[in-house]
Amino acid sequence: MLTILVTGGAGFIGANFILLARQAQWANVINLDKLTYASNLQTLAELHSDPNYNFVQGDIGNTELVTYLLKQYQPDAIINFAAESHVDRSILSPRDFIETNVVGTFQLLEASRLYWQQLSSSKQQQFRFLHVSTDEVYGSLNSQDPAFREDTPYAPNSPYAASKAASDHFVRAYYHTYGLPTLTTNCSNNYGPRQFPEKLIPLTILNALDGKSLPIYGDGQNIRDWLYVTDHCEAIYLVLQQGKIGETYNIGGLNEQANLTVVEKICAMLDDLAPKSDYHYSSLITFVKDRPGHDRRYAINCNKINHELGWQPQENFDSGLLKTVQWYLGNSDWVNQVRSGAYKTWLKQNYENRKV
Ligand code: NAD
Ligand code: TYD
Repeated sequence: MLTILVTGGAGFIGANFILLARQAQWANVINLDKLTYASNLQTLAELHSDPNYNFVQGDIGNTELVTYLLKQYQPDAIINFAAESHVDRSILSPRDFIETNVVGTFQLLEASRLYWQQLSSSKQQQFRFLHVSTDEVYGSLNSQDPAFREDTPYAPNSPYAASKAASDHFVRAYYHTYGLPTLTTNCSNNYGPRQFPEKLIPLTILNALDGKSLPIYGDGQNIRDWLYVTDHCEAIYLVLQQGKIGETYNIGGLNEQANLTVVEKICAMLDDLAPKSDYHYSSLITFVKDRPGHDRRYAINCNKINHELGWQPQENFDSGLLKTVQWYLGNSDWVNQVRSGAYKTWLKQNYENRKV
């Protein structure tokens, strides 16, 4: 079985990936995570006594630690999920994004290169560095534009997108310059169980259950291509096994939705599953001041991964969203832990100055 060093595995996508990887026996996992506000080790509690899973708290930018872990565990692959991942936070404090997404990824690449260079030639050929990136590096689409392809020029618009674009360029450079066997995936907006409620879908579910307003930026007609997290994790594993080194693969949900529609669908599901006697959840919808530089539309063309590796998303939006809403309703311990003091501070910081 493979041994994989997963970074950022206590966050939303990384944790879902690790749970699947252990359940399906894809790999033994070492999870290196700094444990920022976005992480939650409770998500991985079921792996507590799994001898083939190890957690290490630390920063991908800590070369000494990463070098030690590589030497100690001799992984066959590294999957880099670790990042600052929220656009609104990147607007309020971009520095953290440069530190982790740019400098941290560079440090991780450099430690990986030194590790890889001293492997035997057969081990060198097997080794992979898979970097998880985003469709936001491609910028914003108008309604009639074709979806992003792997060769769409980079045009990042937010500090988050710019930092991810920079990291993608370093990954590319390490392949071209040093021959490090890299793979990059650029995915669309993920949704599903265990996502930190700063992002649209979990924020809407939890605010609605609390009877709080459901903030919609601008006119609510910005479009995202929603990808169910399990579909994404399966695509990453496939790219890891069969992707061509040095290449990038777009991963999307084939599922474009306007934000207002997403929020209305959640409200309708909650009206069925957790009805309030005196109001419908949609009455909580509140239009608020737009995000600065808000990208209008993202859409992914995933023909490459479909044609070359045979992947396509399995979940449709209604089924995936229903599973997601049900997960949040059924996991109140997880939800209550996340709603810590720090999360409340974020809600105040991001929403109190957005005029209705
Ligand atoms: P997340 O914010 O939920 O989790 C990020 C994790 O990385 C956290 O556990 C955090 O503690 C950890 N981390 C942050 N800085 C670190 C550092 N310096 N060293 C080690 N660990 C660190 O993010 P996510 O939604 O799971 O996203 C995972 C990856 O996927 C990111 O690279 C993100 O850019 C990319 N991505 C996410 C989405 C999405 O919709 N969530 C879409 C496209 C791409
Ligand atoms: P988000 O989940 O933050 O992901 P991203 O910015 O990476 O796409 O936001 C998804 C969409 O929802 C985006 O167009 C911004 C919008 N949005 C709101 O309208 N209200 C909110 O409170 C949040 C968090 C997002």
